Amino acid sequence: MVVTGAAAGIGRATAVRVAREGARAAMLDIAEGPDVVEAITRSGGQARYWQADVSDEAAVAAAAGEMVAWLGGVDALLHVAGIMRGQQVPVGDVPVGLFDEVIGVNLRGSFLMVKHLAPALEAAGGAVVLTSSQGGVCEGSGSVAYGASKGGIHGLALTLERALEPRGVRVTEVAPGSVDTELFRRSVQEGLTRNPDIRLLEAAQGTAAPPEAVAAVMAFLASQDGAAVRGLVRTC
Ligand SMILES: NC(=O)c1ccc[n+]([C@@H]2O[C@H](COP(=O)([O-])OP(=O)(O)OC[C@H]3O[C@@H](n4cnc5c(N)ncnc54)[C@H](O)[C@@H]3O)[C@@H](O)[C@H]2O)c1
Repeated sequence: MVVTGAAAGIGRATAVRVAREGARAAMLDIAEGPDVVEAITRSGGQARYWQADVSDEAAVAAAAGEMVAWLGGVDALLHVAGIMRGQQVPVGDVPVGLFDEVIGVNLRGSFLMVKHLAPALEAAGGAVVLTSSQGGVCEGSGSVAYGASKGGIHGLALTLERALEPRGVRVTEVAPGSVDTELFRRSVQEGLTRNPDIRLLEAAQGTAAPPEAVAAVMAFLASQDGAAVRGLVRTC
């Protein structure tokens, strides 16, 4: 299985989970020096790691080719990599560069990962699991760019379902609520510096789920046990 965003948070927990269940974990992340490979191999699992930016098509294409070769076919893409920027920035103050960066990583990155793994997924009759969010899909987000990117991923997932299902690839999308990761903690801090009265974010801090809870859903959706599930799955 291919797992992106595997160096930290939900992606890391997902890679550890699927490896524990016996899958070979081909992991991709922009971060370097992952201890996740060691963590998986130490407990008897098989893992390899590619350092690449999901918004860079050449890098994604190169990594995808190597991953397919190493795995000997791809039965699932669990695409988790993503960023959150611009929490509580008023729309009139959102820099275009920030907007483009978030759309580039979250939306373009989702498209590129599927684009370059689709032939292998079709050959294997595999599954795609994309990661959207409560913000931008179930309700608005505190970040204009993030909400737009996650709403875009929702549309991408619906469109991919229509395009790939007839070709034997099952497409689902997980929309997590608050999950206790670096992304979430940084986002809360960023929001609090701009708006000390954001009670909702503070409240969410107390109810954030562990990343392992979302990883369990990801692993289920990628497995044969999840074969009857279609479309959007909320963990919020
Ligand atoms: N944590 C939450 O509350 C929450 C809620 C809803 C949705 N999500 C989504 O879940 C996913 C994982 O988030 P998380 O909370 O685990 O975050 P995280 O910051 O803990 O982990 C994200 C990982 O993605 C990697 N990444 C970032 N940019 C990348 C790029 N350009 N190319 C490749 N890898 C890149 C990071 O290096 C990191 O390892 C994201 O898509 C996020 O939007 C998170």
